Amino acid sequence: MALLRSAFLTLARSRCLRHLSENSGAGRRLASRFVAGTDIDDALEAAQALTRQNVAVTLDSLGENVGTPEEAGRAAQVYHRLLDAISAQGLGANISVKLTQMGVDLDPSLALELVTSLVTHAAAAGSFVRVDMESSAYTESTLHLVRAVHAAGHRDQIGVVIQAYLRRSEGDVSGLLEDGISIRLCKGAYEEPASLAFPEKSAVDENFLRLMKMLLVSGTRHAIATHDERMIAATRRFAQERGLPPSAFEFQMLYGIRRDLQRALAAEGYHVRVYLPFGTDWYPYFMRRLAERPANALFLAKNILR
Ligand code: FDA
Repeated sequence: MALLRSAFLTLARSRCLRHLSENSGAGRRLASRFVAGTDIDDALEAAQALTRQNVAVTLDSLGENVGTPEEAGRAAQVYHRLLDAISAQGLGANISVKLTQMGVDLDPSLALELVTSLVTHAAAAGSFVRVDMESSAYTESTLHLVRAVHAAGHRDQIGVVIQAYLRRSEGDVSGLLEDGISIRLCKGAYEEPASLAFPEKSAVDENFLRLMKMLLVSGTRHAIATHDERMIAATRRFAQERGLPPSAFEFQMLYGIRRDLQRALAAEGYHVRVYLPFGTDWYPYFMRRLAERPANALFLAKNILR
């Protein structure tokens, strides 16, 4: 299992396979299980459908590791258009942004400028910017940027993601909680060395539960992002023991994964938000979804053969 995960994460970095997949009709059809479409209208249509089912969304315009400042600027413009639509349609949605898409590799001050403009726009649109967490090469710079924007006065418009598989996360959570920064807790989706990340699933799960408890009692509204029924049941139990109402936190899941669970939790009165990716640069995102559950690849292969 760990080998397959590693193989998919290695393939996720293949430029050649990426080019072939993203430009083939079959590739696009396969990706549609996890990706809501290629343009803003597709994403908004999927967002409206989920909102009607009482499930909120966070919109992700796919793309990472841009090569030029112009590309980063264009990526930010897509998010500005999304924020305009969120506000005009009263969608109650927010956006999820990757710093490598905002040009952090080229110039950290460019990423800071672009994220600050998005956060300012989100404040006016009644929305929120969640900065996704990428590989451990970006943990420090991501936390630094989010703290800087938060400290500059955008306290309710920016939040970050913490990965339970990283050994450092407990310390990071403590620091972020002191500042009242909203966190999305997930397990982590990248390939990391054992020196930085727990290699065993049981240790990741244990850390997830430890961090979840820290978040829930902190008084800030956080997101528990998982499809793992054990993690979800433990979160519900802990919230009940502490007398926390369902509105004190939200559950988050990925578009196309465990729709049944998303709807069931929403029907029970929990706040549920779905991470909704769209765009043409879907390959790395798609490969990470296969890595999480290699059975997906088998399922897709059967569909192709059929
Ligand atoms: P786990 O992997 O243990 O899976 C539990 C169960 O969930 C599986 O048995 C299966 O039923 C179902 N499941 C999980 N993944 C599936 C898949 N791909 N296909 C079908 N079923 C699947 N990561 C990161 O590094 N940085 C980030 O910013 C984010 N952001 C993010 C946002 C949101 C809203 C979510 C839900 C997740 C992320 N992630 C992420 C991804 C996260 O780190 C993790 O890789 C996935 O959520 C899978 O882990 P689970 O917690 O679901 O548990």
